Amino acid sequence: MRRAVALAGLVAALTGAPSGPAAAAVVAFSAEEKHAIARHGPWPPPWKRDAGNRHSGRAAAIAFGRTLFFDARLSRDGTHACASCHRPELAWADGQARSTGRALLDRNAPSIANSRFERWFGRDGGADSLWSHALRPLTDAREMAMTPALLAGRVREHADLLRAYRRVFGAPGDDDEALMVNLGKAIAAFQETIVTARTPFDAFRDALLRGDRAAMARYPEAAQRGLKLFVGRGNCSVCHFGPTFSNGEFADVGIPYFVAPGRVDPGRHAGIRHVVDSPFNLLGKYNDDRTRANATPTRHLLLEHRHWGEFKVPGLRNVGRTAPYMHAGSLTTLEQVVRHYSELNEDRLHADGERILRPLRLDTGEAADLVAFLESLSAPPARGARP
Ligand code: HEC
Ligand code: HEC
Repeated sequence: MRRAVALAGLVAALTGAPSGPAAAAVVAFSAEEKHAIARHGPWPPPWKRDAGNRHSGRAAAIAFGRTLFFDARLSRDGTHACASCHRPELAWADGQARSTGRALLDRNAPSIANSRFERWFGRDGGADSLWSHALRPLTDAREMAMTPALLAGRVREHADLLRAYRRVFGAPGDDDEALMVNLGKAIAAFQETIVTARTPFDAFRDALLRGDRAAMARYPEAAQRGLKLFVGRGNCSVCHFGPTFSNGEFADVGIPYFVAPGRVDPGRHAGIRHVVDSPFNLLGKYNDDRTRANATPTRHLLLEHRHWGEFKVPGLRNVGRTAPYMHAGSLTTLEQVVRHYSELNEDRLHADGERILRPLRLDTGEAADLVAFLESLSAPPARGARP
C-alpha cells in the first residue's frame, strides 16, 4: 500500500497531475485492524465515580483538592506541593529524568492526567486507590516528609485550610490519621477531573468507524502507517491497550533497573508488598465501598519472582508532551523509545520475560511513522487547569 501511494505520487509528479492536500491518502486497514483501532476509544470515556472515595465527584471536595494540590504548606519545610513535580504546564509531569524532592528520587514523575482510569497507582503500582496513593508523597521523607500529626497541625493552624476542611468534611476530630486520609480523598477528587482532551487520533478513529474518508484524510499519512504498525507487527497494543493505551498491567520491556551501582529498583515486586502491607489499602477501614467489591484485585495479589523489574504499562495519551520516558527517564525522545523497541536486546529481558517482545528491526521510514503516530496522541494543553 505504501509503495502504491509513493508510486501514485511519482506518477503525479511525472504527469504534472495535481497533488497536495486534496490528494491526501488514506491507508487501507483490514477488518481486524479496524477492530483493534476501535478499541482505543471512544474518548473521553464516560464519568464513573470512585466507589472507594465517598467524596469522588463532589464539587466542594474537588475545589479543596485543587487548592491542596498546589499548596506547599502540605510539605514539612514548605518547599514542595504536589504541583512541584506534576506541573500543569508540563502536561502534569515535571520534565526531569528523575524527580527531585528533598533528595533525588529513583523514578520519573508520570503525568497525573487520566489517573482515574488506572487500577494501580505509581510505576510499581504501590497503591490500589488514587486517594491512598496521595499519602505516599505526603509522608515520604524524600518528598513532602509529613506525618499525620504534622498535617493535622497545618490544617488546624491555618484559618483558610480549616474553613475549607470543615466545609467538605465537617469539624476535624482528634484522629490525625483519618484527617490525613480525608486530605488524600479531596486531592484524589481533584485529580479525577484531569482528563486529556481529544486528539487527532480520536478524530481519525471515529472517522474510520463511520467510513468518513474525507475526515480520515486529515490525519497525517505517516501517523496512519504508524498506527498500522502499532496495532499490527509492532504488537504495541497488546500492552498499550484500550482508550488510555494501557492494559493497566506490569511488564519488563528491557529497560535497565539499576538506580545506582549495586542498587536496583525492584519495580512491581516492591509495589505489591507495599499495597499488601499498607493500612490504607482497599481491604482496610478507609475504603468507602461497603461492598468491598473494589478490593477484589487487591485480595488476589500474589507476589512472584517475575515481578522483579516489572513496571506499569504507561498510558500513551499526551506522550509527546511528557518526555523523558520510562520509569527513570532513561530515554529522552520518542525516537529513542522507538529505537529501543526496534533494537530490543532480548538478553536484557527476564528469562521468563515477555514473549510478546521481539526486536522489530524497523527501517528509518517505519520508525518515523511510529513516532508520527505517537505524536498524534497528544491533545492541545488543557484549559482551566490552574486554580
Ligand atoms: C518530589 C516530586 C513529587 C512530588 C512532590 C509529588 N509527586 Fe507524584 N510522583 C512523583 C514520582 C517520581 C512518581 C512516580 C513514583 C513511583 O512510581 O513510585 C509520582 C507518581 C504519582 C502518581 C501516579 C500516577 C500513575 O500513573 O500511576 C500520582 C497520582 C501522583 N504522583 C500524585 C501526586 C500527589 C497527589 C502529590 C501530592 C500529595 C504528589 N504526587 C507529589 C513525583 C512527585
Ligand atoms: C510487553 C508489554 C509492552 C509492549 C508489547 C510494548 N510496551 Fe511500551 N511500555 C511498556 C512498559 C512496561 C513501559 C514502561 C517501562 C518502564 O517504565 O521502564 C512502556 C513504555 C513505553 C513508552 C514510554 C511512555 C512513558 O510515558 O514513559 C512508549 C512511548 C511506549 N512504551 C511505546 C510502545 C510502542 C511504540 C510499542 C510497540 C513497538 C510498545 N510500547 C510495546 C510495555 C509494553
